[in-house]
Amino acid sequence: MKAIVFTEYGSPDLLQLKEVAKPAPKDDEVLIKVHAASINSWDLEFQSGMFVNRLLFGLFKPKPEKQILGADIAGTVETVGKKVTRFQPGDEVFGDLWDSWGGFAEYACARETALELKPAHSTFEEAAAVPQAGVLALQGLRKTGQIQPGQRVLINGAGGGVGTFAVQLAKLIGTEVTGVDSTQKLEVIRSIGADHVIDYTQEDFTQNGQRYDLILDVHGFRSMFDYRHALSPNGTYAMVGGAVPRIFQALFLGLWGSITRSQKFRLVAEGPNKGLADLKELIEAGKVVPIIDTVYKLSEAPEAFRHFGAGRHKGKVVICISSDFS
Ligand SMILES: NC(=O)c1ccc[n+]([C@@H]2O[C@H](COP(=O)([O-])OP(=O)(O)OC[C@H]3O[C@@H](n4cnc5c(N)ncnc54)[C@H](OP(=O)(O)O)[C@@H]3O)[C@@H](O)[C@H]2O)c1
Repeated sequence: MKAIVFTEYGSPDLLQLKEVAKPAPKDDEVLIKVHAASINSWDLEFQSGMFVNRLLFGLFKPKPEKQILGADIAGTVETVGKKVTRFQPGDEVFGDLWDSWGGFAEYACARETALELKPAHSTFEEAAAVPQAGVLALQGLRKTGQIQPGQRVLINGAGGGVGTFAVQLAKLIGTEVTGVDSTQKLEVIRSIGADHVIDYTQEDFTQNGQRYDLILDVHGFRSMFDYRHALSPNGTYAMVGGAVPRIFQALFLGLWGSITRSQKFRLVAEGPNKGLADLKELIEAGKVVPIIDTVYKLSEAPEAFRHFGAGRHKGKVVICISSDFS
């Protein structure tokens, strides 16, 4: 089968389209014919050799079984292992293969727990855009953020993968939503329902006197103490991702908040795919729509990675695997 392979850490130029062996599913796995996969920041961080990923997946070069990137996939089940009970050949599925990877390929294996049936009327490209970003947005608002109707919610990084799901979900729950991102993303953030937008290149939302009941932060790279000015006295800050020192700061402030019963600082850490079934229902009901910036062919993966890395994408960047070979 064809796959995008990386044998050393570095730039997207090192991604190669290669012929590799088709994987075989273990007893608790299914073999999926992958039709589409989407890029997440984790793919880029792993490919570039960010230290934490080296510890997990190979210090000097990626381990042989981790040399095909791609966690978010949508495709058709081809065969199932002996212990698989939830799926059968022909089922159309989607999910986040965060522990096995291997999605930028014609075939991938996945544990059945990583998968749900694809939303009925979605294309494979739309479904592949959902798992990691949609789940983080849902978890960040629902469990971590404890979102309530009528609240004032701010999404920082609202125009990217997680943000475009978060804006739609927060509006569905009946909150007043402010989306923060760069100039060229404000139009799409408005188009998916945000009540207010803030261009972070022009205005610092922590310094404008506004206060929010919930801040969902996709881009936690600044001091956590800044956010305290923008949170209501009992408000919640929910961090999806950011710099490691900022994660420790959020943990410290979280501990402080639980002692003083004041502002809460929390990390979004419920685990992959938890909530994916709820997202499937919302998408089938037409209440949430995946926002796709660009669809690339598998052979164009280096270009897709460069585009994602430049940060100009609105919503998700998707790779259509079947378009190269059909
Ligand atoms: N909690 C978990 O378990 C978990 C798991 C996986 C990933 N993550 C995290 O999820 C995040 C990835 O989110 P994503 O897929 O939505 O990424 P994304 O598509 O790249 O979106 C990030 C958005 O943030 C915007 N941005 C950049 N600088 C900003 C600033 N200073 N202020 C406000 N917005 C800014 C970017 O726009 P511009 O580039 O135009 O500025 C972009 O629209 C990462 O933080 C990652 O670490 C968390």
